[in-house]
Amino acid sequence: MPSTLPDGDPVPPDGSLPDQAYRAAADRTLSFYVHVPFCATRCGYCDFNTYTAGELGTAASPQSWLDSALAEIDLAAKVLGNNRTVSTIFVGGGTPSLVGAEPLTRILGAIDERFGLAADAEVSTEANPESTDPALLTGLRQAGFTRLSLGMQSTSRRVLAILDRTHTPGRALDVVAWARAAGFEHLNLDLIYGTPGETDDEFAASLRAVVGSGVDHVSAYSLIVEPGTRLARQVDRGMLPMPDDDVLADRYLLAEELLTAAGFGWYEVSNWARAGAARCRHNLAYWTGQDWWGIGPGAHSHVGGVRWWNVKHPAAYAQRLAAGVSPGQAREVLTGEQRTAEDVLLRLRLDSGVALDRLPATGRAKAADAARRGLLDPAALAAGTARLTLDGRLLADGIALDLLG
Ligand SMILES: C[S@@+](CC[C@H](N)C(=O)[O-])C[C@H]1O[C@@H](n2cnc3c(N)ncnc32)[C@H](O)[C@@H]1O
Ligand code: SF4
Repeated sequence: MPSTLPDGDPVPPDGSLPDQAYRAAADRTLSFYVHVPFCATRCGYCDFNTYTAGELGTAASPQSWLDSALAEIDLAAKVLGNNRTVSTIFVGGGTPSLVGAEPLTRILGAIDERFGLAADAEVSTEANPESTDPALLTGLRQAGFTRLSLGMQSTSRRVLAILDRTHTPGRALDVVAWARAAGFEHLNLDLIYGTPGETDDEFAASLRAVVGSGVDHVSAYSLIVEPGTRLARQVDRGMLPMPDDDVLADRYLLAEELLTAAGFGWYEVSNWARAGAARCRHNLAYWTGQDWWGIGPGAHSHVGGVRWWNVKHPAAYAQRLAAGVSPGQAREVLTGEQRTAEDVLLRLRLDSGVALDRLPATGRAKAADAARRGLLDPAALAAGTARLTLDGRLLADGIALDLLG
């Protein structure tokens, strides 16, 4: 979750939603995202809404965050009512593993109590390898977490140092083994490719380590140089080169080759899973326009075409909830046109693609052209779906904008 928030309309103090948010709710699943805004240290590339203890001082603490998050779950129950069960929960950050199992258990319990978790609910948490140990994993599994997502990034000591990661190359692999022993059903490792100075061999070694670890899911993101980060300053001063587009494309193709050979299949441009059941249902809910409520500072929510986002700072977030006021900073009610555009942008990144009838007539003509250029699958197109080829996946967002134009 990037830390810059857009402008928008005011959110009413009681957090109530316009009628449109409730229309056809039965056609959509409901998820919760829970944002934990704490990190032990800040990685130089990261722009997420997260704070070290030194940055927060006495303004906010894990305890004030927990109290406020529980109050926001109560608010969500008042606004949404209690007739919808929850399909997925995703605790992200920041570093959820830093706060320990007990607060996360209480959050899960509160969502279950207010709404009810579906019997087959997917309950994920992110974790940083450094702050994760077997006791934490046992506690999380007992609390009902089913899926663990670990920021491994690379197995190269040199690359981890450039990224300011504090863990050793093997730590994430140890955590995977502990998580399996603790009984987690699904495990993901995050990789970052294209770090300045990273070689093909180093990225291939990271991929082989991921495959060898036995996880059933991999997310691989190209390094984004976010404005305002330490990495951006190093690039601006010429201390590090900007990641090169051709190198990024080659690394993506290497990921596809090694992961496919090992039995993974892509289902979103940056995500691969060993089987359908290993796909992250929570992220699929985002990408297919379902409803989700984001709990925590700076968290974003979407219910029936109404999108809102919370105040960013943990102290401001806690103050609002302590005063019985919605932490929503602003919101926007999406028009039909905006919803279609978002739907096309997100669904085109999926292996299931976008139905051609979602596109304007000009977009359908452009889809035929993209298929001739090898960017869309001609067989899928003939069957009425715009589905990216491997070459198309390298240009996904540009193609989506073209199809909407
Ligand atoms: C919240 S972090 C994961 C959990 C934990 N905080 C950690 O870093 O280990 C989510 C993921 O976002 C990705 N990420 C963050 N900033 C990025 C950037 N600038 N470019 C590419 N990937 C990034 C990393 O792969 C990271 O694992
Ligand atoms: S540990 Fe994760 S969330 Fe925290 S600064 Fe690093 S990448 Fe960002």
